[in-house]
Amino acid sequence: QRIVFSGIQPTGSPHLGNFLGALDNWAKLQQKDSVTYYSVVDLHAITLPQDPKVLRQSKHDMAAALLACGVDPKQSALFEQSKVRGHSELAWIFNCITPVGWLGRMTQWKSKIEKSHTSHAQALLETSTSAGTASLKMGLFDYPVLQAADILIYKATHVPIGDDQIQHLELCRDIATLFNNNTKSKYFTKPEAISPPSTKRIMSLRDPSAKMSKSDPSDFSRINLFDEPKVIQQKISKAMTDGHKGISFDTENRPGVSNLINIYAAVTNKSVDDALKDMNGLHNSQQLKQAVSDAVISRIHPIQSEYVKLQADPSYVQQVLKEGAAKAQVTADETMEQVYKLMGLD
Ligand code: TYM
Repeated sequence: QRIVFSGIQPTGSPHLGNFLGALDNWAKLQQKDSVTYYSVVDLHAITLPQDPKVLRQSKHDMAAALLACGVDPKQSALFEQSKVRGHSELAWIFNCITPVGWLGRMTQWKSKIEKSHTSHAQALLETSTSAGTASLKMGLFDYPVLQAADILIYKATHVPIGDDQIQHLELCRDIATLFNNNTKSKYFTKPEAISPPSTKRIMSLRDPSAKMSKSDPSDFSRINLFDEPKVIQQKISKAMTDGHKGISFDTENRPGVSNLINIYAAVTNKSVDDALKDMNGLHNSQQLKQAVSDAVISRIHPIQSEYVKLQADPSYVQQVLKEGAAKAQVTADETMEQVYKLMGLD
């Protein structure tokens, strides 16, 4: 039996990268012989400073977005991470066995350190310039351990994630092995990533060498799932391309154009070759941008209308989250009981 877990942070609106890289897969993985757990990972969100009011609303909006993307509460447990206490409890157990060195190697951590020297997050800026990494928050460093707990508490066998999370999943697999070795058990099995094809690795519209990201200060770098068609068109028309003639797929020399072709391929569920065939009659990047923006708009239109409906009924979304947490809690409690036993904490 397949046990699927995945999570998304409730910080800002989900963007096209989240959708194509992960959420679209979440919906597809809801099959008869599978158990699926999908979580709005609020404990991960607070590894950076959050305004409580905004966070509360963002969690709700993200849950509505996930439902709009096809997460079906009849099949999946959809819940807030902080409502199932076992996530934090198991993270603590893992903290006590995971070497600090393993976390120091995480590239997301390393890039957060770099960013903290240069960018917007004032809290990080102040601390990091005065004391190096010493004042960066423990939670931010520990983030991947909590992520391992999220996955292993349900003994997930499959984890649908985008490319940028692969290293965190590797760490999760290592922690599972470490726990088994330490407790002389075979309690945890190693989960596998379900990663979309490379066409679904969506890059920033402004800088095609960086992934499309919620934390990019420029809103023009990303297409939010709930941007109006007019805005989507505007953003794509301003996307970075190049001075070369015609349209060709060449990620090395034409990263901007190639990202647009990838986006087109991903939203139309085509291979790059088939996408290029569709573009046979197009001669310049202006025409390409028009085709891409039409394809994006029509792909996400049904999701947008569903989202509007869900937002009109907040109590339904809250009810789904409550029931989802109750369902997840049963499995989480069973796991914690076994883990405590294996550790001599029973
Ligand atoms: P988050 O919230 O950053 O992103 C959610 C999912 O979207 C994928 N993604 C992308 N895919 C393609 N192109 C992009 N430009 C792009 N940007 C983001 C991410 O890979 C992710 O799958 N740490 C996780 C949340 C998490 C989690 C977990 C995931 C917490 N616990 C356990 C899986 C299992 C995160 O920050 O995702």
